[in-house]
Amino acid sequence: MKICVIGAGYVGLVTGSSFSELGYEVFCVDINPEIIAKLKNGIIPIYEPGLEKVVKKNAEEGRLTFTTDIRKAVQTSLFIFIAVGTPSAEDHSADLTHVFNAAEQIGSYLNNYSIIINKSTVPIGTSKKVKEIIRLALNRREIADLDFDVVSNPEFLREGKAIIDFLNPDRIIVGSDSFQAIELMKNLYQPITSKDTPFLVMDLPSAELTKYAANAMLAARISFMNEIAGISDAYGADIQMVQEGIGMDHRIGHAFLSPGIGYGGSCFPKDVKSLIKTASDKMVPTPLLESVEKVNQRQRKKLFEMIIEQFGKSDLSIFTFAVWGLAFKPETDDIREAPSIDIIGEIVKHGAKVHACDPAANHKAHNVLGDAGVKYFQDPYAAISGADALIICTEWLQFQLADLGRVKNLLRKPIIFDGRNIFDPKVMKETGFVYKCIGRNL
Ligand code: UDX
Repeated sequence: MKICVIGAGYVGLVTGSSFSELGYEVFCVDINPEIIAKLKNGIIPIYEPGLEKVVKKNAEEGRLTFTTDIRKAVQTSLFIFIAVGTPSAEDHSADLTHVFNAAEQIGSYLNNYSIIINKSTVPIGTSKKVKEIIRLALNRREIADLDFDVVSNPEFLREGKAIIDFLNPDRIIVGSDSFQAIELMKNLYQPITSKDTPFLVMDLPSAELTKYAANAMLAARISFMNEIAGISDAYGADIQMVQEGIGMDHRIGHAFLSPGIGYGGSCFPKDVKSLIKTASDKMVPTPLLESVEKVNQRQRKKLFEMIIEQFGKSDLSIFTFAVWGLAFKPETDDIREAPSIDIIGEIVKHGAKVHACDPAANHKAHNVLGDAGVKYFQDPYAAISGADALIICTEWLQFQLADLGRVKNLLRKPIIFDGRNIFDPKVMKETGFVYKCIGRNL
């Protein structure tokens, strides 16, 4: 039961190392020799809690191998995962170049029955295309009768909790039309599913759509709550009470009801857009999904609008703003589609200076934002020292536990724009802050 995982990026690395943690022998393959060299030396290119430990332990114990030798990995593995990136193309569809390249390579080397498993988030119909590419390659090699199966097995990993999510999923989804493949996949996931995790089998297109539908549903909940937060502010309601009130309805539940400055990250923005494109390719109207996206775009501008309103002018050149949080969410260094990047861009464009601070993402943010107008701080208190206001973009725990007295003393003016509602507006008012947040400006 050897496993090959093609793509040593976020999903591939978590998938490969987690399978090795379950006791399987895993080859993690990447075409980039630099990434493989780093991994061989125990250097993990991404920040993900727990990942380094799992990778090092399993590599040392010989179950996890990093290699650029895709031929050997493909030929010795029963399970071949495709876990390469599917970035947004210009027209918002998912760019499948890496997926199809992986399929081409599998077809070039396959010499035994294997199951090819799509882990990457791919539009409906991609598994079918992967199958066709492999079949064509086998035909070219004149081994057209070599048996193989392609299945869809989407991941639902949250950054920051990816290892936990992998080992304790809500469900395993497998899309396949092959009885043999389904049985083997059941065996593969047996160490996980034995702990009451449902193993849900469906056809290929349904499995592919399930991934997009899950992300779009979660994104829709966030946009919905952001819209309700706007109504809350207009009428002096408290979105937190509303959130609690509706969350207690068990048909709704509490998860993913926190308003904020819009969803970001590598999945929601890309996947909602890609689903809209997939639908439009077949002339299916998607007014709801388009609104989810539109509301999110508008919400991402909200904090900056509040800043302009507070200071009463768009020329901000005499001000310095401290920004706490650059990552798109806590416990990650990922800044892809992070609202902080847009907000800082706007602030700098309007002439102000920024003191940015993030426990993990300073380096990546620096690569994108550069030094013009932005200074980076490791210490949150050093970042606010002498700033005219504090802007909170990510709800890292250390920010939530901040010493508010110290914050007030260090800021030139006690003004906080909180895009994540991490403090209680009443307490903030009592402490003497001008506190602007989302849906709780009572
Ligand atoms: C998401 C999905 O949760 C995961 O299943 C999928 O495989 C990949 O995409 P991730 O992008 O890591 O995971 O982050 P998640 O925790 O889901 O948050 C996504 C975005 O929504 C973040 O920008 C977060 O700040 C925002 N969010 C989340 C809210 O604004 N409010 C909420 O209540 C929850």
